[in-house]
Amino acid sequence: MATMTEKVARPQIRQTQCFIGGKWIPSASGKTFETIHPATEEVIAQVAEGDKEDIDLAVDAARAQFDGGQWSQLDARDRGALMHKLADLIEAEADELAALETLDNGKPISDSRAADIPLVIDCLRYYAGWADKIQGETIPIRGDYFCYTRREPVGVVGQIIPWNFPALMAAWKWGPALAAGCTIVMKPAEQTPLTCLRMARLAQKAGIPDGVINVVPGYGPTAGAALVKHPGVDKIAFTGELATAKIIQREAADSMKRLTFELGGKSPNVIFADADLDAAAAGAHFALYFNQGQCCCAGSRLFVEDSVHDELIDRLVDSNKNRRLGDPFDPDTEQGPQVDQAQFDKVLKYVDYGKADGARCVSGGNRHGDQGYFVEPTLFTNVTDEMRIAQDEIFGPVLSVLKFSDVDEIVRRANNTNFGLAAAVWTRDIGKAHRFASQVRAGTVWVNCYDVFDAAAPFGGFKQSGLGRELGEAGLAAYTECKTVTVAM
Ligand code: NAI
Ligand code: MG
Repeated sequence: MATMTEKVARPQIRQTQCFIGGKWIPSASGKTFETIHPATEEVIAQVAEGDKEDIDLAVDAARAQFDGGQWSQLDARDRGALMHKLADLIEAEADELAALETLDNGKPISDSRAADIPLVIDCLRYYAGWADKIQGETIPIRGDYFCYTRREPVGVVGQIIPWNFPALMAAWKWGPALAAGCTIVMKPAEQTPLTCLRMARLAQKAGIPDGVINVVPGYGPTAGAALVKHPGVDKIAFTGELATAKIIQREAADSMKRLTFELGGKSPNVIFADADLDAAAAGAHFALYFNQGQCCCAGSRLFVEDSVHDELIDRLVDSNKNRRLGDPFDPDTEQGPQVDQAQFDKVLKYVDYGKADGARCVSGGNRHGDQGYFVEPTLFTNVTDEMRIAQDEIFGPVLSVLKFSDVDEIVRRANNTNFGLAAAVWTRDIGKAHRFASQVRAGTVWVNCYDVFDAAAPFGGFKQSGLGRELGEAGLAAYTECKTVTVAM
C-alpha cells in the first residue's frame, strides 16, 4: 500500500563522549566503540568506551557533588524546578530525541514519538513534583523524648540500563534519584548510548549542577562491573537480564550496596471465553509484538480458553499478516528490526526450538528482508508448558499460545515460571478477573488491557523478575534512607 506520509529526517548525533563532572571528555584509554542503526546495520557513531578509570572519575565527581551538598541540600522545591526545566527542554526537542532513539535502537518513529519520549517527559515531571514532598514522621516513643524520622538521599547511585527503551529507562532512573537528592553515574547500554547522552546535555542546559548526572558509555563486564564494585557507590539500580543481575548481586555484596533490579519475564496473558474477543485479540497482539517483542513485560505466554482458541488464532494470524515491517523512519511502520545481531540470532534460535519441541508455527518464523535485523511476527500454537518457548524469555516477536479448558488450573499454569513481572486477564466476569489478579504471582496485573504504564503506578517483579519497585512512591523510597532522630526533652 502506498503511503502519503513522509519519512522522518535522521537526527544529528551531537554527544558521543563521556559526561563527567559537567565536562564532555574522551575515555581515559582513548578507545571508542561503534553504535549501529539496526535497520541497515550501518555504523552511525563512534562512542567513547568508558572503563574502570572513567568510572572512577565519574564516581569521584558524583561523590564530591553529593558530599558538597550543592544538590542534595538544595531547597527541595528548587530541585523540583530544575527537574521541570529538564522536562521542558526535552519536550522542546522531543522530535529530535525520538528520531535519535529510532536511529540508535531501530524502533518505529511512531512509537518513539507517541510512547517513549512523552513517557520520559511525564516521568520527570511526576518526580519533579515529589522533590518537596519527601517527608518523615513523628513517632510517639516511650519516655520523655521527641522522636522523628527524616528521609535522606541514599547517596551516589550507579544506574545500569538496557537498550529496549533507552531514554525511558534513563528517565525512570533519573527521576526518583534526582527528586531524592542523589547524584548519579549512569552506564547506558552499549547498543544504545545516544539518547541518554543527549538527555545529559539537556540536564546541563537546564542548570542541574555539574556532577549530579554523570554518564559513562561502555560495556557491561568492564564499565558496568567497575561501577558495581566501586566502594564510593551507595546503590545500584539495574534493568536487564536475570543472569547479569545475579552477577551484580554477588559483586555488590562486599560493600553492602542497596540494590534494585528490574529483570525479565514470561508474562501470562489469559483470555477467557467470555472476553470481548475483539479487544482481547488486539490486546494480545499488542502485548507481545509492541517494541519488536523487546519488552520485559511482554505477554509472551498467551493462554486461551479452548472454546474460543481457533477463532482467536485466526484473528492473530490476520493481524500478523497486516503488520507493517520496514524502515523505522517511515511513520507508517509498525515493526522495526531487533536491536542487534545477538538478539536477532537469539530470536531465530528460539523459533528453531519451538519447531524442534513440537509446537506449530502458524505465522512468520523467518527473517524479514535481507538487510537489518528484522524478524517476521511469529506465532506458535500447540505450545505446552514445559517447552523452551513457554519457559524462557525470548525478547522478540515470537508469541506462544497455550490452550486451557480448566479454569481452576489456569492460575497454577500461569504461575508455572520463575518469573513474576506482569500478567493480564481478559474476561467480562468481574469476579473471575479479581480472583485471577489476587492469585497470580506478578508485580503488575492488567485486566482487559495491557502495557498501561503510568509514572505514578509502581512497577517491578515478584520472584526472579526483580527486587524492589520502580515508579510511584515506592520507586522514590528506593532512593532514600530512613534516619531516626531521638531528642531528650
Ligand atoms: P544485559 O543484562 O547483559 O545488559 C543490560 C545492561 O547491563 C547493559 O547496560 C550492559 O552493558 C550491562 N551489563 C552487562 N553485564 C554486566 C556486568 N557484568 N556488570 C554490570 N553491568 C553489566 O542484557 P543483554 O545482554 O543486553 O540482553 C540479554 C537478554 O536480557 C535479552 O535477550 C533479554 O532476554 C534480557 N533483557 C531484559 C531486559 C528487561 O527490560 N528486563 C532489557 C534487556 C535485556
Ligand atoms: Mg549481556
